[in-house]
Amino acid sequence: MKTSQVIGVVGGSGGVGASVLTVAIAVRAALAGLRPVCLDGDRLGGGLDVTLGVEQEPGVRWPDLAGVRGRVDGGELLRRLPSVDDVSVLSFDRARDVQLEAGTVEEVLRALSTAVDLVVVDLPRPDHEVFAALAPSVDAIVLLAGSGICDLAGASAIAEHLVRTCPDVWLCLRTSGRGSHLADTVAGALDLPMLAVVREEPSLAAALLHGIPPGSSAKGALAAAADQVLAQCVAGSRRRAS
Ligand SMILES: Nc1ncnc2c1ncn2[C@@H]1O[C@H](COP(=O)(O)OP(=O)(O)OP(=O)(O)O)[C@@H](O)[C@H]1O
Ligand SMILES: [Mg+2]
Repeated sequence: MKTSQVIGVVGGSGGVGASVLTVAIAVRAALAGLRPVCLDGDRLGGGLDVTLGVEQEPGVRWPDLAGVRGRVDGGELLRRLPSVDDVSVLSFDRARDVQLEAGTVEEVLRALSTAVDLVVVDLPRPDHEVFAALAPSVDAIVLLAGSGICDLAGASAIAEHLVRTCPDVWLCLRTSGRGSHLADTVAGALDLPMLAVVREEPSLAAALLHGIPPGSSAKGALAAAADQVLAQCVAGSRRRAS
């Protein structure tokens, strides 16, 4: 039985901050008393365990699940994942590439959904086979667009695929701080509801270097954006369901 909310995060272009926002949403959820897990959908990315700051921790990564057949015990899998401050992560592994079967990805997401309150998925682009396996189980998608002209063009190319896959697609705009005035124009151009502006967080690079999970500081720009995502996609869905 599926019990959790599943939020997918997609970058409109490379390096825009989608993995960082994914982890920040999970970190804020844990601080709000929910039990979250982050799921890495970017096979050849650096690994979502690095973004969470737990890359030195032992535990299960995607390559360990490659041969899995049949039912997965979500609670048992959750216990075996690397975690920090009640945020767990199922990450790809830089040292061990793996090509996953769609059935394995679907079953792992289903299993984890029964064991937590919230799954936050770092989705790859829609043309990736992992996207096809994960997206049908995602309740809401956040498209994080950068504010440069090429970033917006990339986001617009992806947006069309997302709305075909998921009925609940939201836009976040990454800006350097001065670009907030663009938000309404971008939302209009992409025909998506604007959920949050993700402002530059100057201390983020140093925090990542020291293994401090993004979103940990309540005063930060990422925390504010992640809280808005949670308010809309988790609290909003509970309101709609009741
Ligand atoms: N809100 C932010 N403020 C400042 N810097 C940020 C912010 N978000 C991300 N960054 C910086 O951008 C880098 C890339 O972020 P991230 O890995 O999340 O991007 P991505 O969209 O997932 O990239 P990829 O396309 O490779 O998956 C981070 O290492 C961080 O230094
Ligand atoms: Mg990424």
